[in-house]
Amino acid sequence: MSALRFERVWFRYGGNPVLRDLSFDIRAGEAVALLGRNGAGKTTLTKLVVALLHPERGYVRVGDRTTEGRVPEQMAHQVAYVFQHPDQQLFARTVWAEVAYAPKQLHRDSPGVERAVGEALERVGLDAMRDEHPYDLPSAQRKLVTLAAAIAQRPRVLVLDEPTQGLDRAGARRVADIVRRIKDERVAVLAVTHDVTFMAEALERALVLADGRIAFDGPAADLVGDEGRASDLGLDVPPAAQLSAALGLPHRPLRAAEVAAALAQDLDANRT
Ligand SMILES: Nc1ncnc2c1ncn2[C@@H]1O[C@H](COP(=O)(O)OP(=O)(O)OP(=O)(O)O)[C@@H](O)[C@H]1O
Ligand SMILES: [Mg+2]
Repeated sequence: MSALRFERVWFRYGGNPVLRDLSFDIRAGEAVALLGRNGAGKTTLTKLVVALLHPERGYVRVGDRTTEGRVPEQMAHQVAYVFQHPDQQLFARTVWAEVAYAPKQLHRDSPGVERAVGEALERVGLDAMRDEHPYDLPSAQRKLVTLAAAIAQRPRVLVLDEPTQGLDRAGARRVADIVRRIKDERVAVLAVTHDVTFMAEALERALVLADGRIAFDGPAADLVGDEGRASDLGLDVPPAAQLSAALGLPHRPLRAAEVAAALAQDLDANRT
């Protein structure tokens, strides 16, 4: 069974439809990039997943239940959502309280809450900040606090809107590690992103939204490695992918480590 399914979904805010008869499936353990030009409907789609919005026609299904007639609080045991801007999300007085909010709402016992919060803060590298006020942290760390809060929910679907925006490379790499790990735990991840390096590191599949429909559904590498397609979407090609294309490396690896391995192999072959 799919973890997340859109079934012939139509949505409009009032005027023209933003989503038109849109369908797709994401399985447990799959990490998917959601791409599309500005205004294509990416954020709208993510809000439909968490029941902040509801389809005009069609269904959004999380696990075996649709979002019909449900409000976001009723989705919280299945879906976690990290907003693009942490300041739209943060509300508690301490990092600990922020991350503990959802596990408490989900009626975990206190050792359970403590465990979930401790583990989530450790994953994002903020265990030392648990007593800080979120607003005293730099914005990159505020973003990681919202990610920890989502992890502590132990969702089956994790929705991320531009998760690496405002983070430096090290921060983005940490988010990529977190996504890979949560994917191994069979969580389905849907991430709106313009960060192609993050995409190459953590997301294997890409969905492109255009004219209210899915215009592309396939391996993220096929988009990221293709300069024409990528620039159509306003995406940069990752430096490692540019290098591997320029060198004509077989299989056009996208990640720096793979390019290095291919070059090392080449050198070895030339030596013998
Ligand atoms: N609350 C709203 N009321 C009316 N129209 C809206 C509302 N929110 C978004 N829209 C419109 O719906 C369309 C899709 O917007 P959405 O924010 O989902 O796009 P997006 O792909 O997330 O764009 P971006 O890349 O700029 O974040 C746009 O034309 C937008 O202007
Ligand atoms: Mg958006």
